[in-house]
Amino acid sequence: MTSTTAIGIDIGGTGIKGGVVDLTTGELVSDRVKLPTPHGGEPDAVVEVTREVLDRLTGGDPEDPVGVCFPAIVKGGRTLSAANVSKKWIGLKAEKKFEKALGRDIHFVNDADAAGFAETTFGAAKGVQGLVLLTTLGTGIGTALIYNGVLVPNAELGHIEINGHDAESRAAYSAKEREDLSWEKWADRLNVHYSRLEFLLSPDLFVIGGGVSKRWDEFAGLLKSNTKTVPATFRNNAGILGAAALAADDARTDRG
Ligand code: BGC
Repeated sequence: MTSTTAIGIDIGGTGIKGGVVDLTTGELVSDRVKLPTPHGGEPDAVVEVTREVLDRLTGGDPEDPVGVCFPAIVKGGRTLSAANVSKKWIGLKAEKKFEKALGRDIHFVNDADAAGFAETTFGAAKGVQGLVLLTTLGTGIGTALIYNGVLVPNAELGHIEINGHDAESRAAYSAKEREDLSWEKWADRLNVHYSRLEFLLSPDLFVIGGGVSKRWDEFAGLLKSNTKTVPATFRNNAGILGAAALAADDARTDRG
């Protein structure tokens, strides 16, 4: 029988979070397990904490598909970049490494793409025609492009250069915390980033997710974009949900 739940694990620069997801609604049906990302983000240490998160979650169905999302370009199961984790991830056969350590097949994907998939399937971007640009604002800035409901993977628009800086180093939520910026000062930086993305891509909708999206009310009024902008329906859980939903899709395709 096809499972109606799947497990999603979202590896971030700060925390590794996981949950069991109901695939019909996209809701979490377990407690959210969160452990700190090991300092330095070294592959072996990250894989070990991911195993711990999975162990804590698999009180549920051991047959559930497992999806893992990660803050890097992911192509053919390899991680091809490393912005807020160890450089050892670059070129690593990461999917295989996780599968070996976790003792099961997994679906492995970029974290912003997972969030974009969740919002398209269940949330703020569901049924939206045209171009949706989801950004996750957390330790870094992740971006997902969705055109007419189809995800275009591995957009890395958090790294465009703005005034000589990597955009995420100035406008990620971590920059607000690191520099102790007011909401107004931080929103000024976000507005520069979004207006550049608007000019480059003419999106129809911006969706804002990531760690800061739970504080949407504190900065929504400061955003000046001409493009309609909404918070991610699933806030910072979108990565978990999307990783789980993608893993379930994968499992169905393999069976069919
Ligand atoms: C990485 C992206 C990731 C984003 C959010 C960026 O630094 O380059 O791949 O999606 O952070 O975690």
